[in-house]
Amino acid sequence: MADQATRERIDRLRRELDDHNYRYYVLDDPSIPDAEYDRLLAELEQLEREHPELITVDSPTQRVGAAPAAGFETVAHRVPMLSLANAFEEQDVREFDRRIRERLDLDQIDYAAEPKLDGVAIALRYERGELVLGATRGDGRSGENVTSNVRTIRAIPLKLRGKDWPDVLEVRGEIFMTRSGFARLNQRLSGAGEKTFVNPRNAAAGSLRQLDPDITATRPLQFYCYGAATVEGLPQRHSDMLEALRELGLPVSSQVARVQGVDGLLEYHRTTLAERDGLDYDIDGVVYKVDDLDQQREMGFVSRAPRWALAHKFPAQEEITRLLDIEVQVGRTGALTPVARLEPVFVGGVTVTNATLHNLDEIRRKDVRPGDQVVVRRAGDVIPEVVRSIVDQRPADSQPWSMPDHCPACGSAVEQVEGEAVARCTGGLVCPAQRMRALEHFAGRAAMDIEGLGSRLIQQLVERDLVHSPADLYHLDVPTLAALERMAEKSAANLVQALEASKTPGLARLLFALGIREVGEVTAASLARHFGSLESLAGASIEELIAVPDVGPVVAEHVFNFFQEPHNREVIQALLDAGIQYQAEPVRQADDLPLVGNTYVLTGSLERRTRSEARSALEALGAKVASSVSKKTTAVIAGSDPGSKLDKAESLAIPVLDEDGLDELLAS
Ligand code: IVH
Repeated sequence: MADQATRERIDRLRRELDDHNYRYYVLDDPSIPDAEYDRLLAELEQLEREHPELITVDSPTQRVGAAPAAGFETVAHRVPMLSLANAFEEQDVREFDRRIRERLDLDQIDYAAEPKLDGVAIALRYERGELVLGATRGDGRSGENVTSNVRTIRAIPLKLRGKDWPDVLEVRGEIFMTRSGFARLNQRLSGAGEKTFVNPRNAAAGSLRQLDPDITATRPLQFYCYGAATVEGLPQRHSDMLEALRELGLPVSSQVARVQGVDGLLEYHRTTLAERDGLDYDIDGVVYKVDDLDQQREMGFVSRAPRWALAHKFPAQEEITRLLDIEVQVGRTGALTPVARLEPVFVGGVTVTNATLHNLDEIRRKDVRPGDQVVVRRAGDVIPEVVRSIVDQRPADSQPWSMPDHCPACGSAVEQVEGEAVARCTGGLVCPAQRMRALEHFAGRAAMDIEGLGSRLIQQLVERDLVHSPADLYHLDVPTLAALERMAEKSAANLVQALEASKTPGLARLLFALGIREVGEVTAASLARHFGSLESLAGASIEELIAVPDVGPVVAEHVFNFFQEPHNREVIQALLDAGIQYQAEPVRQADDLPLVGNTYVLTGSLERRTRSEARSALEALGAKVASSVSKKTTAVIAGSDPGSKLDKAESLAIPVLDEDGLDELLAS
């Protein structure tokens, strides 16, 4: 028999573990590291092994139990699980609001607005505070009893908090997988030679419907509650009710908001859409609900959807279209990138006709072939990609695609380096495609920033043999330029002036413009800061290069080799002879990076760089970049359409910078 002290210890461990779970999943504010949680759980498991008579069904150790013997049973829902009417256009939302105002005879309606989570609907039944049933939606009237799997999901409490729960409580919500959890799961599955999931929603559904709860327990499933089927004992406004459920220990999305009238709805849609790509989970729209439950009852239902709720969908991020052909593009360093030519398709808010296929390995792995029906994905400002082929709709005569063995631009041999995924054209600057890309890069905004020198013009300059290396640009004159297509005296004169104006770049820009392999803007800035001049960089050894923050052995070798190559030295000399005078940078070592100790949060879209470029640039100066605003945040950097992070910053009185402010920081 266990003594009093053991009983008390067990009790205390259970309470502490429940509390940590609540802090982690509901408050999103963990107070101990995961390892400490695991230690407490191990201690409880040990005590329960020694005293099995003290095990209770709602103990945190009892998440994984036995599999149901004969598959999942069917259970009838006491209250049917409904679906939602969909809206895609603003007009549909205005109609929705108008119908409600007319029916309720009110001027303005209070709504609750929530993200529409892209996962699997679940009904959870609690009796006397204990989880007794988890059921899938099924056909809405009856679903499958997946209780043993649901119990393994740590975000779902086995026992409600406090004492103030109704005798019977049935809540509804969504089980989903985070994007990061999905990526980790797929990595693990493919490492084990198992089949991967195509998206987080399928992964969530597949994991929940595992017959073996041991497997479900290893899947990173999450849960948010969005409603209740039984409302006795709960507040009579939907938004207050969610707050009450949160207090009972059920996780509720922090994006739930109370808004007024149709303008409030549309504003919520806009801000949530802007936040979409920054979230760690997929949402496919937002859901609007009349907030007052009496008003909901008055509105009632049509067929299987409530009249008081509406799903306002976002543009789909995945669509199906036909892959017309696979073409090969030659990059600046000769890398050959297969590009999919697609039948135009509207996805992620734009019409897409091309998508990257990355490299041959990827094409083989996905088994994508010309002529296939393919799934195309475009999320946010990420370039569109072909996700997979729909194999069972493939024409009988289709053939796997292979990389050409000669460069389509110059006919030089293509080499595939052992251990590298990319194939490369061996033509170097003989290859007009490589020359063109190198010049485009050189003239680009983040490089020498030569205004008016676009790719069409560069193409003509290369095709007519007027320019071989970047230095040749600085010898072009007005009559030569004016003779080109789509050019005239005035535009030619402007270009000559722009070339002149580009002659005094900072060292970092010049380095970036040279197009050294693996040297992006951030690395170029680190190199410039560290060495201060071209001469000392050109003379640096591999060891000296590795000592620079942001430079590893691979980059160091590329930089070293670049300056060993006589041709590159000639190009640099020719640039200096043509009058390029770069501005030296003050030398700075790793330990006195200017932003060490500062933490920034990025929100909204920036104009002059992507968020990930901004992040790398800040990090290269020693700053931390966090995903959420807290008291420790130094400043929030907000682009256009900022999300709720901006409100949070304002409520915590954290300074907010715009992109000009960011430029100033980066110049520090
Ligand atoms: S409310 C009576 N709220 O969308 C209203 N559903 O088409 C029933 N969903 O299968 C649903 N997020 O799983 C509601 N915040 C949210 C939601 C949500 C996702 C799913 C739900 C349902 C489907 C309805």
